Amino acid sequence: MTKRLGILTGGGDCPGLNAVIRAVVRRAEFYGITIYGIDDGFKGLAEDRLRKLCQQDVSGLLPRGGTVLRSTRFNPFKEAKLVSRCLKTISKHKLDGLIVVGGEGSLGIGLDLFEKQGVPVLGIPKTIDNDVFGTEYCVGFFTAVQTATEAIDRLHTTAESHNFVMIAELMGRHCGYLAAYAGLAGGADYILVPEQAICIDELVRSLKERHKSGKNFSIVAVAEDARLYDAKGKAIVRTPTLQDEYGHITTAGAGLKVRDLLVKKLGFEVRLTVLGHIQRGGSPVAMDRILATLYGCEAVRLASEGQFGRLIAYDSGRVMDKNLNIIHQGVKRLSADFFEVAATFFG
Ligand code: F6P
Repeated sequence: MTKRLGILTGGGDCPGLNAVIRAVVRRAEFYGITIYGIDDGFKGLAEDRLRKLCQQDVSGLLPRGGTVLRSTRFNPFKEAKLVSRCLKTISKHKLDGLIVVGGEGSLGIGLDLFEKQGVPVLGIPKTIDNDVFGTEYCVGFFTAVQTATEAIDRLHTTAESHNFVMIAELMGRHCGYLAAYAGLAGGADYILVPEQAICIDELVRSLKERHKSGKNFSIVAVAEDARLYDAKGKAIVRTPTLQDEYGHITTAGAGLKVRDLLVKKLGFEVRLTVLGHIQRGGSPVAMDRILATLYGCEAVRLASEGQFGRLIAYDSGRVMDKNLNIIHQGVKRLSADFFEVAATFFG
């Protein structure tokens, strides 16, 4: 019988995490399960920092951005003793399971704990990058799309007033979802994503054509890890940067590259706005609150039945669960069909 569950949030924060925590605590009461909130992701698990959460603790959390449990990219698997400490915390508090709310990095650690250490783990996908394989949507994505779309709308007004070519760099790591969705919703005149490498000269040609046809401004949405190559087919690469404990390199920077190239090749005034962490902030939009609530409640339902090693996912119009190891069965990519539709509006 599941009586006690831990919950942690790992990786980059995003809107909707608090809504997941609230849903888990509220639903757990229904099943008579006690929830323990673990601070600072897996770091708090290794350091035995957890506290009982009850209805009062989660009151008012639904619309609140960020995570009251806070989050880190701490990886216990970098040292055997850290894994042992995590296991000790779990056994000391007699946790019957662990709900990991994370992106592919944190879910991967959850999967390792489940497969290699026998910890009963359930995964809830969250990330503005929307890059977790096995689910169509991750908590946080819809809010980030909304935030970035509004930012692009604002850039439009200044671009129009000053005849600027405005570049908006969007987050997303190696995935183009956020840039493509916000680019499409914001009416970007070109979108660059990691999944669709393009020649910089093609972008220059398209913008020149647009301006020749009478438009005096342009908006280019650039995913932070957008792939570009030069006229000889040589990749235009960024300087490799830091790796975090999850093994992620820092991907930000494509916008600057595109800006420098356009300044050289275009002859119009070019400005760059890096939207950065603005995209992770703020109150979740309705769809993220709903997803967070459905995912949280489903995780508790599975736990109440003793089902672990599952990923809560959204697929074909409904919430379901899948084997947690699905997160490593592929790489989630923006579909070519979506990009093709977005491209209809380029130029
Ligand atoms: O995974 C979420 C994300 O915001 C990515 O889009 C981005 O590349 C990265 O995290 C930024 O990480 P940090 O907050 O460590 O700068």
